[in-house]
Amino acid sequence: MDKIIVDGPCKLEGSVKISKAKNAYLPILSGVLLSDKKITLNEIPNLRDINTMLTLLGNLGVGIERNGDSVVLDPSTLNSHEATYDLVKTMRASIFTLGPILTRLHKAKVSLPGGCAIGTRPIDLHLSNLEKMGAKITLEGGYVYAETDGPLKGAHLVLAFPSVGATENLMMAAVFAEGITTIENAALEPEIDDLANFLNAMGAKVTGIGTKKIQIEGVKELHEVNYTAIGDRIEAATYIMAALATKSNVKVTDFNPSHLEFVLDELKTMGAKLNIGDNFVEVLPSDLKACKVDTAPFPGFPTDVQAQMMALVTQVKGSSIITEHIFENRFMHVPELNRLGAHIELKGNTAFVEGESKLKGAPVMCTDLRASAALIIAALASEGKTEISRVYHLDRGYDNLASKLQDLGAKITRSAES
Ligand code: EPZ
Repeated sequence: MDKIIVDGPCKLEGSVKISKAKNAYLPILSGVLLSDKKITLNEIPNLRDINTMLTLLGNLGVGIERNGDSVVLDPSTLNSHEATYDLVKTMRASIFTLGPILTRLHKAKVSLPGGCAIGTRPIDLHLSNLEKMGAKITLEGGYVYAETDGPLKGAHLVLAFPSVGATENLMMAAVFAEGITTIENAALEPEIDDLANFLNAMGAKVTGIGTKKIQIEGVKELHEVNYTAIGDRIEAATYIMAALATKSNVKVTDFNPSHLEFVLDELKTMGAKLNIGDNFVEVLPSDLKACKVDTAPFPGFPTDVQAQMMALVTQVKGSSIITEHIFENRFMHVPELNRLGAHIELKGNTAFVEGESKLKGAPVMCTDLRASAALIIAALASEGKTEISRVYHLDRGYDNLASKLQDLGAKITRSAES
């Protein structure tokens, strides 16, 4: 297992290019299973979860040819309807393959994803709504067995919660369903729009994109496509907060700032000096004051930016309040941040964060993907050496983070854990 060592405090300077979004390409890669035509996806980020999904597709018989940072996929050779536990257990997003496999092959066997560090991560909304489309679903031995006699049926679905994964799974299942499927209370995250745009680029008929009411008219077949996903707004937010925590001047490019509108508005309210362009945000050294943040489904404050914001507000003037409403256990970065000298107190799903903490380097441990990013931000603002272990968590969602920060002038190195 690798570790990352940061010798802080660091000043950052320059420009960082954001990779394409993990949470767009994971459902898009699952959507590849719908087609039997060639699909080219460009600027695929080098992330553990993306590589796991490509391995899963390969195991299902999909032809995969890497061509630089593009990948050419040939799903015409799909020869299995089983997403097995050995891969699914390492990446929950494998559950996104259920809808596409079922609607294309009329049967699917997908391992239950199980929980993860941040929560139990149920899939009841995925399954109950697939049943409304005519799927017969049974759970046995840790697997979801789903089958239909013929095509799924278009249905009027209302999500009890705007679940990102359920919206994506059901949208894909509806592509070959007979008739019209309506998904009410659909999630609004930009990655949902990107998946819908990808499906339409293959010849699907998805309308209502960007609204809480998405309609999918079933089609009979799809055609070849060459597609590039949106920039990763969560990665962008991470670098923006790293720049603010170190009072640096950094330009974060190749993403759509409107995908971070709520976060950028909050940062500006706190005093952040930001130049916002069409596909970049330039951060200028800023004196920030405290905030009160409640995570919410899009367009609210993203839960995937909560940990990074918490690291940042240890450095601002005054005490902040951060409440996590989406996942039941997404504060594992708190004890690690407190090891660096932060003063964070938890009461239920609310964190009370004292500002202007003098952070001191210390050994800390990654516990989940976004918690890892929070530790990096705090380490950059800490006095002295911070050794961050179990960075495999970081590799799930950040492409070359240490080298991108090195290019910005951070004293950061990565090495094998002794
Ligand atoms: C997606 O997870 C993202 N993952 C997560 O990003 C992100 O945190 C989350 O959406 C919320 O924005 C990918 O896109 C691969 P949900 P997902 O279904 O689809 C409950 C990261 O850091 N729920 O919107 O699993 C669930 O328990 C990852 O990149 C049900 O109760 O999120 C949770 O409380 C972490 N039943 C809430 O909804 C269901 O059937 C949000 O889950 C489904 C979800």
